[in-house]
Amino acid sequence: MRPLKLHTKTTLLASAITLAVLGVVLALVSVRFAQRVRDQQKELAQLQADNLAQHISEMPAPRDPAQLARVATLVHGSRPDALTVRVWERVGGVFQEVAASAENRQAEEIPDDVKAALRSGLATKVVEARPEGADDSLYRVFAPVWEEGRVSGAVEVIEKLDSAPSIAWDYGRGALWLAPLAVLLITLGIFLLFRHFVYQPVERLLGAMERVRGGDLQAQAPEVARADEMGRLTRGFNRMLTRLREMTAEREAQSRVLERRVGEATAELAERNEQLEDANLELYRTARRLTELERLAAAGQLAAQFAHEVGTPLNLISGHVQLLLASGSHDLDAERTRLQTISQQIERIVRIVRRTLDSTRPEAGEYAPLDINALLRRTFDAAAPTLDASRVRLDAELAAGLPPVGGDPDRLQQVFINLFNNALDAMPEGGELRVTTSFEAGRLGEGRVVVDFSDTGTGMTEEVRAHIFDPLYTTKKRGRGTGLGLVVVRQVVGEHGGSIEVESEPGRGARFRLSFPVAAQSEPNRTASVSERVSTAEVRP
Ligand SMILES: Nc1ncnc2c1ncn2[C@@H]1O[C@H](COP(=O)(O)OP(=O)(O)OP(=O)(O)O)[C@@H](O)[C@H]1O
Ligand SMILES: [Mg+2]
Repeated sequence: MRPLKLHTKTTLLASAITLAVLGVVLALVSVRFAQRVRDQQKELAQLQADNLAQHISEMPAPRDPAQLARVATLVHGSRPDALTVRVWERVGGVFQEVAASAENRQAEEIPDDVKAALRSGLATKVVEARPEGADDSLYRVFAPVWEEGRVSGAVEVIEKLDSAPSIAWDYGRGALWLAPLAVLLITLGIFLLFRHFVYQPVERLLGAMERVRGGDLQAQAPEVARADEMGRLTRGFNRMLTRLREMTAEREAQSRVLERRVGEATAELAERNEQLEDANLELYRTARRLTELERLAAAGQLAAQFAHEVGTPLNLISGHVQLLLASGSHDLDAERTRLQTISQQIERIVRIVRRTLDSTRPEAGEYAPLDINALLRRTFDAAAPTLDASRVRLDAELAAGLPPVGGDPDRLQQVFINLFNNALDAMPEGGELRVTTSFEAGRLGEGRVVVDFSDTGTGMTEEVRAHIFDPLYTTKKRGRGTGLGLVVVRQVVGEHGGSIEVESEPGRGARFRLSFPVAAQSEPNRTASVSERVSTAEVRP
């Protein structure tokens, strides 16, 4: 149900109060009025009894009872509430009825105290009584009839008093139709007063509030030039609005200043960012060139050292073989000695080869534990500009809570960079490189961390795939590839006790799956179960 409006409430309240007040006033007035009517009736009855007694006193004796009855009837007829008019004669000290009005009640004895009063010639005595079996309150008035200085009889007028309330009601009823009019007028008056002093100012305030709520801060409630509460309320509301406008203006000014500052800072940041991006790209290119150069240099040095070391015994072997070929004699002892020397030199070569290999392969387990995910993130950051330039989208999903892997961060990063480079080379038109990490529990309780690189590049034939780990094997143009990248990858992975699996088909991309043993006494941290997903946009510097 909709709530009643203020003016409906006050109008209803005013009508109810007016009705209640009018009801109470009318009830009081009618009681008072009935009392007045009754008093008047008594006075009139008394007056008539007095007048009739006076008239009878002046009639010559002996009085004719019939005439007395006529006079009594006449008096009775002039009073609507008179029940009986009776004439009493005093004969030998006793009052006897001699005549009565035509309409007549059964004569009742005159009470003794009245008789006594009449006899002593006192003024009339009044008796109010309700005789048994009668419906009405009766009012009996007696007036003495004087004759030659003595009381010779009395006149009695019996009056019915109960019609007073109905007379009052008759008058009141006449005034009753005024009640609705009075209620209407009073309510209307109250309504108009309230409208002027309360409703209209309140409506104007509400209107202004509505406009403010709609966003119009210029709204003002029309001022009421009055010192009452409504006037103060309106002025207070307007002052509040003015303050609100000032505060809003201040806030807007502040936010403009802030916006300008943020704009300046953003521009500066963007510029720095661009510079950083350029620097990063340059850094990555340099790093890539460096790894290539380093690799080549190391390979060259290794090859030179290796050639030198292996060259010496080979020279010796060659000399002995030449001598063996040249000697025509069949000196078996000398030949055996030469063959032993050749065998020793071959063993030496084997040792050199093993030592060379061993010297480049540090023992697995000597490494410090490292976080593969963190290392990959660093690689993504470094490669981001190159990926962007090659239109390759990176989609990385790094498992949370991976246990650490024992390893050399620089060497492992070299592995990742080599795999990145190969993938980029395989996607000259752009594509997607997906890198994921996961934990793989072994059958004997040992665990491995798996890093998976898959690209959407050209892929490889079975033939190519069979040779990719061969040193110097490359399908790339001269100057673009040395064929050493995956050799290094396999070597470093091997050094870390890891393994590599490759899956590829021509036109269907390639997938390199590296797995590393978990660093000693490490458990996967299973509490952090939310994996991290990185895409190219997020790894940009
Ligand atoms: N992701 C790949 N997709 C397709 N072919 C690949 C991929 N990775 C490697 N290859 C093939 O394996 C060969 C050998 O790769 P490797 O990284 O050892 O040498 P490279 O990339 O040719 O030269 P570089 O020494 O500069 O790395 C490549 O020439 C290429 O044919
Ligand atoms: Mg390569």
